[in-house]
Amino acid sequence: RRVVLVRAEAQSINPAIRKDEEKVVDSVEVAELSKPLTPYCRCWRSGTFPLCDGSHVKHNKATGDNVGPLLVKKQKE
Ligand code: FES
Repeated sequence: RRVVLVRAEAQSINPAIRKDEEKVVDSVEVAELSKPLTPYCRCWRSGTFPLCDGSHVKHNKATGDNVGPLLVKKQKE
């Protein structure tokens, strides 16, 4: 049995979001969330970045990828 290793070429995961910044960093303080749940984009395809707008569904169908949002939830009291 022959095993062939293919070296993946380095590709940028971020096609267009805030490319003028050296590093895109967003922070969230979760102690006092106004909404019970806020989805944050991790696929870099959202039109409302840093919030998820569901664009990951189209990306996953087109590429076979499996990315989804980070869900920040308000802690139950
Ligand atoms: Fe990017 Fe949903 S749009 S994770």
